[in-house]
Amino acid sequence: MQHITLIRPDDWHLHLRDGDALSTTVPHTARQFARAIVMPNLTPPVTTVEAALAYRQRILAAVPADLNFEPLTSLYLTPATTRDEVARAAECPHVHAFKLYPAGATTHSEAGVGDLKGIYPVLEAMEHLRVPLLVHGEVTDPGTDIFDRERLFIERELAPMAERFPGLRLVLEHVTTREGIDFVRSRPQLAGTLTAHHLLYNRNALLAGGVRPHYFCLPVLKRETHRQALLEAATSGNPQFFLGTDSAPHAQSRKETACGCAGCYTAHAAMELYAEAFDSVGRLHRLESFASLNGPRFYGLEPNRGTVTLTRQAWTAPETYPLGSESLVPLRAGESIAWKLA
Ligand code: DOR
Ligand code: ZN
Repeated sequence: MQHITLIRPDDWHLHLRDGDALSTTVPHTARQFARAIVMPNLTPPVTTVEAALAYRQRILAAVPADLNFEPLTSLYLTPATTRDEVARAAECPHVHAFKLYPAGATTHSEAGVGDLKGIYPVLEAMEHLRVPLLVHGEVTDPGTDIFDRERLFIERELAPMAERFPGLRLVLEHVTTREGIDFVRSRPQLAGTLTAHHLLYNRNALLAGGVRPHYFCLPVLKRETHRQALLEAATSGNPQFFLGTDSAPHAQSRKETACGCAGCYTAHAAMELYAEAFDSVGRLHRLESFASLNGPRFYGLEPNRGTVTLTRQAWTAPETYPLGSESLVPLRAGESIAWKLA
């Protein structure tokens, strides 16, 4: 197959940041996707409908005039989130979910939730009002091995939560393990997003032959058997799995340093990278359901109008993009990408 045409896709997990970063991140995503669920982990976090609507306007102001792009906002769940805020979110057409960060799990998660049982009354409201809960699924206990954190979070926190709230619409974001895939498959109320980088790379990309900070993200890349389970799920046609890039820009100076930030930037070439992953197992014909149909179905939205076309045509990703006054190193910087979005 030399060309593939798909219904215009969406990104169900994205970090755009704020301020002058938006003039880089928003055009990249708007060129690739019609809509995106925008993560609320700003400083300070986006915790109210009012703050989300203001953030949405700042994003819209950065959309190039020749593109249509709809930011779908999410609210950051904190121990102080009220049932009233859940009700306001459920009423607002521009807010689509709450995001749960276990406190300390990742970038800008300090305001997140320590004791998950403490938020059960709020989860009850979300279950009742059918507001999706998007979960960063890693335990934060510093004694646990970083490669086990997703599996342990599922066992200790997520399985009991799904049991207690069978009607809660839960998304295990950026699934990175076979156990995560099996968990999503185990209950129809669940869904999972998958990143392009976790479909393409295992932990050797990060660590073998030298430390490569641009492959460091959270949850961290896992071993090859897990990557194969993710790729099998993404390309299986199971509607519980859909596209979420987790594209997460950090300045080059904050990645290439003794203690580098977590996050891979893939928005510049997202669909091309997913096409490579699907093509690697001969399943390009499954890309449209994963990228353009399963997500809208979960969120109760219509698929987009219009199409995009990917062509098998190698190109070289730039070494850097500007990010405000700094620079940003994208995934595959200076290297070849096999597909090109028209
Ligand atoms: O690698 C990551 N980067 N994982 C996350 O959960 C957050 C994200 C970010 O915001 O940089
Ligand atoms: Zn994320």
